[in-house]
Amino acid sequence: MKIAIASDHAAVDERLAVADHIRAAGHDVIDFGCNAGESVDYPDYGAQVARAVASGEADRGVLVCGTGIGICMAAGKIDGIRAATVHDDFTAAMCREHNDANVMCMGARVIPTSTMLRLADLFLTTGFGGGRHAGRVGKIMALEAGGASRPA
Ligand code: RB5
Repeated sequence: MKIAIASDHAAVDERLAVADHIRAAGHDVIDFGCNAGESVDYPDYGAQVARAVASGEADRGVLVCGTGIGICMAAGKIDGIRAATVHDDFTAAMCREHNDANVMCMGARVIPTSTMLRLADLFLTTGFGGGRHAGRVGKIMALEAGGASRPA
């Protein structure tokens, strides 16, 4: 797969480690930065990765900031993006299996790099469960389009 990746200044070393790990697993990586030593605004980086995924330039995206929260909020504003902040094996697998997440976000001030590498593996290898989950994900996407999402 083609994986778009980016981080803000809080997670440069961690992003580079995750990018190397993803490449070693056989994927192509499109790295949007940021560079070491600069102070940036995480929404700019979340948006770049999200746009790459939404346009089809990349199949999935991985984002890292200090908490994994702000960059996820930004990515999720782009149409077509289902971004999830994950902290452990369970949330990394579930964001794929139940939510069909196409962008995964992690916090470099929350979890160690070794955990990030494992969560990246789970994000890239876990399939979407479909079935009842497909209807729910459909309702998420309908919200994005301004459509109603009401209990059936
Ligand atoms: C940067 O200091 C920090 O605010 C950012 O990395 C992230 O944690 C925001 O959600």
